[in-house]
Amino acid sequence: MSKNQMWGGRFKHGNTADVIRFNESISFDQRLAQQDIQGSIAHTKMLIHTNILSDSEGQQIVDGLQNLEEKLIAGQLEFSDTYEDIHMNIESLLQKEIGPVAGKLHTARSRNDQTATDMHLFMKKESIVIIGLIDNLLKELVTKADENVTTLMTGYTHLQHAQPISYAHYLMAYYEMFTRDQQRFEQAKNSADNSPLGAAALAGTTFPIDREYSASELGFSKIYQNSLDAVSDRDYLLDFLSASATLMMHLSRFCEEIIQWNSYEFGYVEISDEYTTGSSIMPQKKNPDVAELIRGKVGRVYGDLFSLLTILKGLPLAYDKDLQEDKEGLFDCVDTVEACLSLFTGMFETIKVKKDKMAASLEDDFSNATELADYLAKKGLPFRQAHQIVGQLVHFGMENNLPLQKMELGQLQKFSSEIQADVYTVLNPKNAVARRISLGSTGFEQVQYQIAKAKQYLFGK
Ligand code: ARG
Repeated sequence: MSKNQMWGGRFKHGNTADVIRFNESISFDQRLAQQDIQGSIAHTKMLIHTNILSDSEGQQIVDGLQNLEEKLIAGQLEFSDTYEDIHMNIESLLQKEIGPVAGKLHTARSRNDQTATDMHLFMKKESIVIIGLIDNLLKELVTKADENVTTLMTGYTHLQHAQPISYAHYLMAYYEMFTRDQQRFEQAKNSADNSPLGAAALAGTTFPIDREYSASELGFSKIYQNSLDAVSDRDYLLDFLSASATLMMHLSRFCEEIIQWNSYEFGYVEISDEYTTGSSIMPQKKNPDVAELIRGKVGRVYGDLFSLLTILKGLPLAYDKDLQEDKEGLFDCVDTVEACLSLFTGMFETIKVKKDKMAASLEDDFSNATELADYLAKKGLPFRQAHQIVGQLVHFGMENNLPLQKMELGQLQKFSSEIQADVYTVLNPKNAVARRISLGSTGFEQVQYQIAKAKQYLFGK
């Protein structure tokens, strides 16, 4: 086995082929090629700025790196596992591009701060992409909510009919959840917005580098204050992964409801052909595969989070090769979250809402029972007593297959003489929603108010 060209000096033998395969990261960290080149350009400019490299040497390196970036974008760069990772691949390609002066690039730097820099840049970029994807979903949710303020549906607790609500109110609940998700990704972006460059291997460097300079070249707003922390910190990845886990959990809950609502039994919505698939044996089938896959993919993202938490547990400072294992799970998480967000938004956009079915679910049920209890309480009965009376009425109604609003007044009055003809207004599901006035409730006015605020926030910015 030939010895490694980058670090082989102190070795007598090269690695075996299986060690090379086991040790390499180029097969996956080539995804960081652009960040790696940009990090190197910033580093070189800093070396020129601090007179560690002469202008002409530095400029040759910068030009060479820029050529590599162009080739990368044109798909003309070829990587090899002979060079283990993206950092050494780029350096060796630079060597071919500009000759031995390329060897000066790695002055006052280590792969440890280099890989950390690449990952910070990558994480910042992807957080911004995801924040934008969430924005698209939020806009879609608010648009649909705006169209459905007076669309009535059953509100559930324990998946039992509870109280009538506005479909817009339901959608706005998810709006709130995804807004929080978006803030969590803002936080993840801020965590990634920290430059480790210049921490070198672990202890900093004797060269008079200017870490603020390279950080600002790369658009970082702050720099790590401790070199050991800079090369071994992966908290910013955990922030991203845990924001992703929560977001995916929200998507999964939403998908679960859409799957149920799309069933024959509920029939509240119909997912469009574009986002459903057929069965190879049952000709009638239209399966909600996309929603199910999104629900299922949460497992991968939880796994990615737990995998990194486990990798980090018990790691001594500073850099350990275990840290190379941070990448694949993270890339998987990025791809999964981005795909799920855009597919979900597409599916949601094309869902047909069956308003009649939703409203019909409130016709013969007892989801207006609380209205009657409140009605009696407003007449002066203690709420507990009112609750008791309505409970008996519900029992009677169930035995006789008669919803409250279909009972004769005389019938109702057998249970309480306080009940008058105005009760039918109160029992009407639409009124039940309209009459809710507490802040954040499903009342039409409240929902309109929340939608207006959301529109101002999303479209007014
Ligand atoms: N490929 C490595 C990683 O991703 C880069 C840093 C390697 N540093 C070292 N001293 N072996 O973590």
